[in-house]
Parts: sequence; structure tokens; C-alpha cells
Amino acid sequence: MTEGQKPTSKIVVLISGSGSNLQSIINACEENNIDAQISAVISNKYNVKGLDRAAAANIPSIVIDHHAFETRQAFDQYLAEVISGFTPDLIILAGFMRILTEEFVNQFVGKLINIHPSLLPAYPGLNTHQRAIEAGDRTAGATVHFVTPELDGGPSILRAQVAVLENDTSDALAARVLTIEHQIYPTVAQWFCEGRIGMKDGIVFFDGVQIDKLGLLFTPQSEH
Ligand code: GRF
Repeated sequence: MTEGQKPTSKIVVLISGSGSNLQSIINACEENNIDAQISAVISNKYNVKGLDRAAAANIPSIVIDHHAFETRQAFDQYLAEVISGFTPDLIILAGFMRILTEEFVNQFVGKLINIHPSLLPAYPGLNTHQRAIEAGDRTAGATVHFVTPELDGGPSILRAQVAVLENDTSDALAARVLTIEHQIYPTVAQWFCEGRIGMKDGIVFFDGVQIDKLGLLFTPQSEH
């Protein structure tokens, strides 16, 4: 590292499943689109595809099976200890299907981000695509947000919209939303690592300017 150069950020990614968002972050790091290294991937489940993706990229992975803990608090406390051991600058929830305790979140608040497959604040929780289709929504999408103790309730950073098509199924819509997730998550990770975004007192700042409560709206490259 030359003098004056910022050190590369350290990221820890938490997963529970397929890890396609993890893959988008791995790719972006490898292509130098994110100035960071992934120190570890942590999964609360064994034998998930995301662990294979970590192995293929030579990233250390750890499974912390939540069934091995008597309480949510005990699991979260251990998880927090393991994460802290990597002294990460950024913790990315990428399909991590566990509700985190307030104590856990408060420990990492401001450097903990999540991606949710809806245009928050619409449809926090599960089955977002089915709910959007049943409500007759014309648009769906995904949101990257800072994590606060309220489930899917932290302030939004970046959202991307996807049209809901006639006769759409929740699987088809989910696949189209996932494609756009893979664009917005690396974008936000890079903004964070560059120091362009941050959260203070529950308000998100981008380049020092407070952003809209709904977050910034992503414009796909192809539309430029
Ligand atoms: C994504 O739809 C993400 O928005 C949600 O969980 C899913 C994870 O998918 N939080 P993957 O494991 O990244 O493929």
C-alpha cells in the first residue's frame, strides 16, 4: 500500500442459502468494483450453496448452527463474537434468514446492511413477491437498507424497481428481482467502502447529504 492510500475494507457476509447475492459481492471484489476483501462467510446452515461459492473463491467460511444454541440471545452473542474476531468494516446480510436481537444489531449498527426483496416500506417479512402480485401492484423491486432492530425497518439506501407483468408468478418475479439485487448490492457495498454512505441517528447520508427516507432510486445501466 502506498502512502495516503486507504486500506482495503474488510467485509463479513452472513448467509443461509443459495448465496447468489454473496456471489455478486465476490465477483465485484474480484473485479475491483468493490475495494474490499471478504474476510469470512458465515452461514447458520450446513450444506448450502453459498458455502460452495465461498470455497470456490477461497474465502474462509464458518457454519454456526442456530440449533446448537438454547436461546436466540445465546446464538446472537456467539455470532457477534465470531464476527468481531474479523474486525470487519462492513457486515452484509445476504439472504440470512434469522431475526437478529436488538443487542446484536446495536453492536454493529451503522455497518450492518441487508437486502430485502420488496420496495420497502412495502412488504417487510416473507413472501414479498406473492403479496405484491396479490395486491395488484404494477411495480415490485428490492431495497438495500441499514439494519436497525426493527425487522426490515431500517433506513433505505438504494432501491430498484421491476415491473410486475401480467400473469406474473411469484417465482418469475423473484428471479427478475434477484437479477437487479445483484446490481444494487455491490453498488451499495462499494459506496460504503469508499465512505460515501453512512447512517447517523437513523438518517442516511450520501456524499455528506441527507437522502430521501425511501432511499435513492437505482437506474439500470441499460437505461442510460
Ligand atoms: C434474496 O431475495 C434477498 O433479497 C433475500 O433473500 C434472498 C437471498 O438470495 N434477503 P441469495 O441467497 O442471495 O441467492
